Amino acid sequence: MGVTRAEEEQLTEECKQLLSSLPKERGWRTSHLYQYQGFWCQPAEIQAIVSFQNHFQAYDNDIILATMPKSGTTWLKALAFAVVNRDHFPVDSDKHPLLTSNPHDLVPFLEYKLYANNQIPDLSKLSADDQDRPRLFGTHIPFPSLANSVKKSNSCRVVYLCRNPFDTFISSWHFIGSMSPFTLEEAFEMCCRGVIGFGPFWDHMLGYWKESLARPENVLFLTYEDLKEDAVFHLKRLAKFLGRPFSFEEETSGVVEKIAKLCSFENLKGLEVNKKGKSIKNFENDKLFRKGEVGDWVNYLSSLMVEKMSTIMEEKLGDSGLKFKVVIS
Ligand code: A3P
Repeated sequence: MGVTRAEEEQLTEECKQLLSSLPKERGWRTSHLYQYQGFWCQPAEIQAIVSFQNHFQAYDNDIILATMPKSGTTWLKALAFAVVNRDHFPVDSDKHPLLTSNPHDLVPFLEYKLYANNQIPDLSKLSADDQDRPRLFGTHIPFPSLANSVKKSNSCRVVYLCRNPFDTFISSWHFIGSMSPFTLEEAFEMCCRGVIGFGPFWDHMLGYWKESLARPENVLFLTYEDLKEDAVFHLKRLAKFLGRPFSFEEETSGVVEKIAKLCSFENLKGLEVNKKGKSIKNFENDKLFRKGEVGDWVNYLSSLMVEKMSTIMEEKLGDSGLKFKVVIS
């Protein structure tokens, strides 16, 4: 909790004032989570979101990669980076940036990096004029809280990667580990009430899901489970959506399979760059690669817990068309 206090002290007076007007709950990592625009966030995240909302100007060819924490952000960043930059960095090059940089260093987070600590970054230098190399950003910010210039753009593209809430919860639990003041059962209860970073899960997913149905040209909805089942098929969808479909030659020469392999859990986890260093503040890179499986929750959640969360999700997702199979691989 010491870190937490120090972090809170770095907030601007304006942000502290905003926080004092928001509902709050005990937090998993910081002493409290605050409900900002309907979602539970840490204080520093809220300060960054406000700054992003006030200052970010989307370019037509921007690509935003959005996720709930622990639902495969690192993987999505690697895949999108490899797809978008494949003319500059051929996938089989032994100098490919993904071999020497963690995906979070190649695709920066809006809220943890670019707009963190009350910074207003000059993003105009990030490949802005190069139509072939769009700017790539990562974020956990829910759809309704994205900057207006992103939401209103008819040309910038948003990719959302969704993971089943059971595995996402267990992944978060391991990630936060001893920093959490809660038992697994307590944390699960909070999660069922929606109180988890950027939760509720259901609202986060539904925001992007509905937008992907309303504006399929601008928002692509992928799932972790589908990617695990058939990465090549979904990589082709991703490349097409990003305006860079694989050519016949690329497909026949195995480029898609090579990207899938380069970005695979096993490959990324084994790289030196991903075994050390802190590409995300306070966390060692190796913490980003745990098991990378579908269904690990079965080792942690009781049948009562699974039933409880399933019922909540069914109720909340309603007739939206979004569903989770309770699958074990
Ligand atoms: P587990 O904890 O279940 O293993 P995020 O990147 O959003 O922080 O999500 C982390 C989760 O994605 C972790 O899940 C991690 O192991 C998994 N992961 C990381 N890289 C992956 C990859 N290349 N392929 C599949 N899963 C990956």
